[in-house]
Amino acid sequence: MLLYFFFAFSLFISPPSPSPSPSSSSSSSSLAPITKDHETHLYTLSLYLNTPPQATTLLLDLNAPFSWIHCSDNNNISSTYHSISCNSPLCSALGSRACAKCHHSPNTDCSNDPCILSPLNSVTHKTSTGKVITGSLALPVTDGRNPGQLKGFDEFLLSCSKKSLLKGLTKGVAGLAGLGRSRFSLTTQVSTSFSSTSTFALCLTGSPSAPGVAFFGSLGPYYFLPEIDLSKTLHYTPLVQNPVQSDYFISLTSIKVNGVIVQLNQNNILTKLSTATPYTTLQSNIYKVFTETFVNESAKVNLTVTNPMEPFKVCYNADEVLDTKVGPAVPTVDLVMEGDDVFWRIFGSNSMVRIARDGVDVWCLGVLDGGIRTETLIVIGGHQMEDNLMQFDLDQQRLGFSSSVLAYNTSCSNFNFTTVSNLS
Ligand SMILES: *[C@@H]1O[C@H](CO)[C@@H](O)[C@H](O)[C@H]1NC(C)=O
Ligand SMILES: *[C@@H]1O[C@H](CO)[C@@H](O)[C@H](O)[C@H]1NC(C)=O
Ligand SMILES: *[C@@H]1O[C@H](CO)[C@@H](O)[C@H](O)[C@H]1NC(C)=O
Ligand SMILES: *[C@@H]1O[C@H](CO)[C@@H](O)[C@H](O)[C@H]1NC(C)=O
Ligand SMILES: *[C@@H]1O[C@H](CO)[C@@H](O)[C@H](O)[C@H]1NC(C)=O
Repeated sequence: MLLYFFFAFSLFISPPSPSPSPSSSSSSSSLAPITKDHETHLYTLSLYLNTPPQATTLLLDLNAPFSWIHCSDNNNISSTYHSISCNSPLCSALGSRACAKCHHSPNTDCSNDPCILSPLNSVTHKTSTGKVITGSLALPVTDGRNPGQLKGFDEFLLSCSKKSLLKGLTKGVAGLAGLGRSRFSLTTQVSTSFSSTSTFALCLTGSPSAPGVAFFGSLGPYYFLPEIDLSKTLHYTPLVQNPVQSDYFISLTSIKVNGVIVQLNQNNILTKLSTATPYTTLQSNIYKVFTETFVNESAKVNLTVTNPMEPFKVCYNADEVLDTKVGPAVPTVDLVMEGDDVFWRIFGSNSMVRIARDGVDVWCLGVLDGGIRTETLIVIGGHQMEDNLMQFDLDQQRLGFSSSVLAYNTSCSNFNFTTVSNLS
């Protein structure tokens, strides 16, 4: 019903704009480069906002329900964006509380009151209040191999924030791109407007020299040099339904270290995926038994723990650890999902973090103790997702994951970003 409102309303406010080449061959999949900021360990998405399209960088937040940008005078927002009235069906669909008086008394004249939503800084957890606005969003289309021409739509809905809400996020971002499980996330709006499948995929990279990539509205192919289609490497697990939050959850049945089961007291562990969390965070009890098991298993392969290196506790001298194409040779970690045959295997490149400072050079187990009382027992962070392809299929409510793509002789920084001009 609310979804219907959204469709009906967006059709009502905007007559279809002439598209550059409305042929049957036009691609409905699009992409955006993803860059890691090595100071904050967060990821940014590059896309085009405004008319004419203006390159804009937003913090990538996998779980945020909607996007926001700062609307101070110097970013051209006011001239090209439209605000939404408080008494519009779209504003009620958003559940904006600021408009309660309009919803409760239909005779009040609210047509000049703006619709308000609270943008959230997912790193500092600060919020502000801001007008809801709509404007143009454009992304390069893709055939899964290269980017092509820009394709856009005019009713991209997002919220305004004060400029101060950017504090704590990566330098240079204009706001935040929310890819969460919500009708108003960037991904849902792109799929709806481009009439594409409700699926997106992320391939994050820690490479400072080349970006990773997000694919929107595509089940594949996802080609990476040299000509490797990572959509062929995926295993699937259900996305766990959660009626309240827009976060993506999966369920683990167990964790194994070099094949040895970590002794946890439960067998259905709700696990969140988060790009706003740099390193996987475990509830204290899980952290304790997991790190102990890891230390015990690494001792079996003659790895001896050395001094801890903040913020990590379990570290090994780098010169004692062999290198492999999937990172340092340490025990593998398997995140096991429903049935023993589906697991996400984490190799050294994702489990370990290299720290070279103060005259020491170590590989440390890149997981953190989240404390006793955590909202979620396990939060899988950015470092553990790098060089893994993750496909969020909202039609089938499942997560597709590749495990380390380094094992397939490619990496997430190997997408060919050369623009092909006849791809539209
Ligand atoms: C605003 O628009 C003007 C003219 O189109 C452009 O020169 C300027 O760079 C834009 N400002 C920003 C912050 O992008
Ligand atoms: C690790 O090994 C020690 C010593 O053998 C043992 O006491 C401990 O229970 C083991 N821990 C786990 C979690 O297996
Ligand atoms: C560990 O070291 C012992 C003694 O040096 C050796 O016998 C054993 O083969 C080593 N094990 C592995 C897995 O390297
Ligand atoms: C990766 O490359 C190595 C060496 O070039 C080759 O032996 C191996 O079969 C390749 N692996 C895959 C999955 O293509
Ligand atoms: C990248 O794509 C362009 C356009 O299709 C192609 O000409 C080029 O050879 C590709 N680069 C590599 C390294 O394959």
